[in-house]
Amino acid sequence: MRNHPNSFSTLAIHHGYDPMENEGALTPPLHLTSTFAFETAEAGGELFAGDRAGHIYSRISNPTCDLLERRIAILEGAEAGLALASGMGAITATMWTLLAPGDEVILDKTLYGCTFSFMQHGLTKFGITVTHVDLTVPDNLERAISAKTKIVYFETPANPNMRLVDIQAISEIAHANDTYVVVDNTYATPYLTQPAKHGADIVLHSATKYLGGHGDVVAGLLAGSEELVSQIRLYGMKDMTGAVMAPFNAMLILRGLKTLELRMDRHCSSAATIAAMLEDVPAVQKVWYPGLDSFEQHDLAKRQMSQFGGMIAFELEGGIDAGRNLMNNLQLITRAVSLGDAETLVQHPATMTHSTYTAEERALHGISEGLVRLSIGLEGVDDVLQDLEQALPSTPKSRAA
Ligand SMILES: Cc1ncc(COP(=O)(O)O)c(C=O)c1O
Repeated sequence: MRNHPNSFSTLAIHHGYDPMENEGALTPPLHLTSTFAFETAEAGGELFAGDRAGHIYSRISNPTCDLLERRIAILEGAEAGLALASGMGAITATMWTLLAPGDEVILDKTLYGCTFSFMQHGLTKFGITVTHVDLTVPDNLERAISAKTKIVYFETPANPNMRLVDIQAISEIAHANDTYVVVDNTYATPYLTQPAKHGADIVLHSATKYLGGHGDVVAGLLAGSEELVSQIRLYGMKDMTGAVMAPFNAMLILRGLKTLELRMDRHCSSAATIAAMLEDVPAVQKVWYPGLDSFEQHDLAKRQMSQFGGMIAFELEGGIDAGRNLMNNLQLITRAVSLGDAETLVQHPATMTHSTYTAEERALHGISEGLVRLSIGLEGVDDVLQDLEQALPSTPKSRAA
């Protein structure tokens, strides 16, 4: 098999696939099959016993998913990858695999709404203790971690308020205490941050977002050591959740990965321009974007991210009503949840993606009621700027007469 140990894009386009082994087909075949024939009864038995390599049934593995799994592993700098039905499938399969009653999970304060809900309302029903700690200060983990702690889990940047967590500092503390580190890398993608290289044991994604990149598929991916990924495949995915990725969806994600670098460069440069414009608008109270000098964790962002991503959070004077007005005045930017698509999307976390928290919980977890979230797309940046400017209650200072 040809291999290309070259740049990010080269790996994303070529790794693990040789057209000459596939009748010259430039793009990998789509293996639409649920099950796989065994040459003999003995061979089937050996496959089940793990004494022979090969595919058995597509809830365990499938050649199209397998190629995607190898690509995400190399892009994340990990040994192995796993393709799952959704980001939530990746999260729940990991948790069901690594946890047992009596264990504790330490979570950062801010998490995507459904992740919060699963941890808070799902895991706790099965004898697992869930503790939220402000992981932006690593010393807080040192104080909170105990022999019961099995996993430290966080997003960086976090959805929706963009807080960052120092992966290396947290991993050092966690590993000194025999604890796994699981990082949701959906916002950054492996093009901007490779958490495994900073010490994370499992890196997971909603591949629905930047990795797919076109808003046409719901999918999840994870990467880690051969041993952990195999456990999650054979237990969390196969038996506990059945959250397996369909081969057709794997093909869509493989296609998305080919342009990830190009798309991320554009998402990042447009987001930087738009964040700077928003900061210049008197009616905008605060902008959270890791690339801004005013971003509290800008130094960590520079250390941990190669660019600052395509997501922006901001708050207008007048809070939630002002935010709703702005959203309703937009003409090009689409009012929708999800992120990482070609289209610029806007949403209001408190009533949408983070409505799984109560208002009190949102206050406790650093998600303000007036926060507006933007996922900057791939349109001409001037068009996106113009749409925002016509919808905002005041013009940027630099453009004011
Ligand atoms: C940061 C983050 N993690 C996980 C998920 C869940 O992914 P999915 O919708 O693919 O299940 C989302 C979805 O929005 C997300 O934003």
